[in-house]
Amino acid sequence: MGTREVFKERNPPSGGFLAVLALNLPAAGRRLLEEKMEVDPSPPGETRDGFLKRVEGADAIVSDLTVRIDRQVLDRAGPQLKVVTNFAVGFDNIDVKACAERGVVVTNTPDVLTNATAELAMALGLAAARHLTQSDALVKDGKWKGWEPDQFIGLELSDATIGIVGLGRIGTRFAELARGFSPNLIYASRSEKPEEEERLGLKRKKLEELLSEADLVTLHVPLSKETYRIIDAEALEKMKPGAVLVNTGRGELIETGALIEALQSRKLRAAGLDVYEDEPTVPDELKRLENVVLTSHVGSATETARNGMAEVSARNVIAVIEGKEPLSPVT
Ligand code: NAP
Ligand code: GLV
Repeated sequence: MGTREVFKERNPPSGGFLAVLALNLPAAGRRLLEEKMEVDPSPPGETRDGFLKRVEGADAIVSDLTVRIDRQVLDRAGPQLKVVTNFAVGFDNIDVKACAERGVVVTNTPDVLTNATAELAMALGLAAARHLTQSDALVKDGKWKGWEPDQFIGLELSDATIGIVGLGRIGTRFAELARGFSPNLIYASRSEKPEEEERLGLKRKKLEELLSEADLVTLHVPLSKETYRIIDAEALEKMKPGAVLVNTGRGELIETGALIEALQSRKLRAAGLDVYEDEPTVPDELKRLENVVLTSHVGSATETARNGMAEVSARNVIAVIEGKEPLSPVT
């Protein structure tokens, strides 16, 4: 008798359902799951092989953006797998097509992290525009010699044209926040957003127009074949000299080498980055630059957002297991 059969025999009231966690799911979600099914928690420092072994017999997998859910995982899980729930809104780590072929539902956690991520993008934009981390380091290193009229002269957002690439949930929330700083808001997005244009005074532009007009550009598109390196060397060349670039989307939206050159040459004033091409590896050339603010993929790292994500993840799993519509399927 296999592990799963033994488990089912031991747990008839739970229906014998098994949810395998690939992350340390916050208690708000874990408790909800535990009321309905057996939950196999993620051991610290687990290897890919360890995870592949644990998914065998799972009815649900709760993954996050660091866990590749591909055909290998789906095959190892087996035909009873019903749902893969991503503890993230982005789901570029999941082979959605392979899931669909097997009838496995994929869900994510939209909305609950929108505000937290937009606020982090604004924080990065402000920090980069006003050389905040350089000034902070000067004071902390004991090297500050006193007030100077020309020290750390930054970009004032009230004079700036702010360009938003991807006017979805997070891009729109960013526009709401940015409206308090500047009336000059432009966006580039796949589809037209007439209601948001009207409500927030936004103007739609082609990407290359936006890049040449904006003093601050912030990226809010998902990673896809179409958006991979949407900001490459050519796009950086089109940007306004002295502009600030913010990325809380995915690292692969930017050609990192070209960005490093644009920052080294001061073509760009500064950048604020939360995400990287090969996380958690960050190129040394990037780390050495003064005119870049680097955070560790913490866009949704607030209690409100993470508890919300945990609850939505759990409710998605439970809905699918109970044969109901999940809250947030990705397709
Ligand atoms: P969303 O609501 O789906 O918004 C994405 C927007 O991008 C949509 O308006 C979409 O257009 C647009 N878009 C998609 N492909 C495009 C393309 N090829 N060219 C131009 N525009 C395109 O997603 P969201 O909730 O705002 O999240 C956006 C992304 O942020 C996530 O996918 C994730 O990668 C990232 N994120 C990062 C963090 C972090 O911790 N740093 C946290 C949360 C999210 P349509 O309106 O036409 O669909
Ligand atoms: C974080 O990056 C997310 O996609 O939720």
